[in-house]
Amino acid sequence: MNINWYPGHMKKTKEALQKNLKLVDVVIELLDARIPMSSRNPEIDNIVGDKNRIIILNKRDLSDENLNNIWVEYFDKKGIKTILIDATNKKDIKKLINTIKESMKEKIEKLKSKGIKNRPIRAMIVGIPNVGKSTLINSLAGRKSAKTGNRPGVTKGNQWIKLKGNLELLDTPGILWPKFEDQKTGLNLAFTGAIKDEIMDIETLALRLVERLIKNASKDLENRYNIEVGEAEPLGVLEEIAVKRGAIMKGKEVDYTRVAHILLDEFRRGIIGRITIETPEDL
Ligand code: G4P
Repeated sequence: MNINWYPGHMKKTKEALQKNLKLVDVVIELLDARIPMSSRNPEIDNIVGDKNRIIILNKRDLSDENLNNIWVEYFDKKGIKTILIDATNKKDIKKLINTIKESMKEKIEKLKSKGIKNRPIRAMIVGIPNVGKSTLINSLAGRKSAKTGNRPGVTKGNQWIKLKGNLELLDTPGILWPKFEDQKTGLNLAFTGAIKDEIMDIETLALRLVERLIKNASKDLENRYNIEVGEAEPLGVLEEIAVKRGAIMKGKEVDYTRVAHILLDEFRRGIIGRITIETPEDL
């Protein structure tokens, strides 16, 4: 998947999204708990307006537990109900359904007082690529897989998925574009795989990740690769990882491409540790 988010594309996406927004009572904004800010669309407040909204920090199984709570508090303070989930965890899915119902209590009461009973509450999921929209829709729908597709503005004729508790979910997520405001955001998105590896060559990307991990998660790095980080430079650390993992070519030269793939892949899958690379203090 590689969407080129030129301005025309963003405009089309926004228009398609706003059309669908009219159909729903509540918007579920999905973020990646490892990079809650970088995975947030910069125009989301403007797009959603005053429609009821819930923020979901997804992939909580990959992110740092302490920082998870700090981020929930951060968004709660902004007045948006926020919860943590792992989109593949059944208990978390139940928790989400309850949160949606809870957030709609007032509206349901209002409808009741007007004599409208059993009108389903309709929701849709929005988020940038890779935050877990398809996974969440599939989990909510109780189906195994089926990618919902990442093409903005492409709808498959909007189907409603019936959920427990008189809820209905739009089967097509709203695809938002990521921020491209600064290099740090771009790097965060690339580290987690939200934008593919073309913002820079993979070796440089891995080197930048090592640099970040030395700062934020040096213990995890040491434990995973059985190395001493100490005062070492990022390149030295990357080379040590290469040696430990046998990413060495003939003539004992480091295979930078291979070690870069190993490091990025293991980081993305949470194997190095549960690491959040963005804190509210970075803002
Ligand atoms: P999208 O529709 O928003 O683009 O995201 P999608 O559901 O395709 O999810 C992107 C990747 O993130 C997938 O991995 C998916 O399995 C993974 N993912 C989604 N939610 C969670 C979560 O809560 N925890 C964890 N650990 N992973 C999650 P992939 O490697 O791209 O594909 P695959 O492994 O599912 O084949």
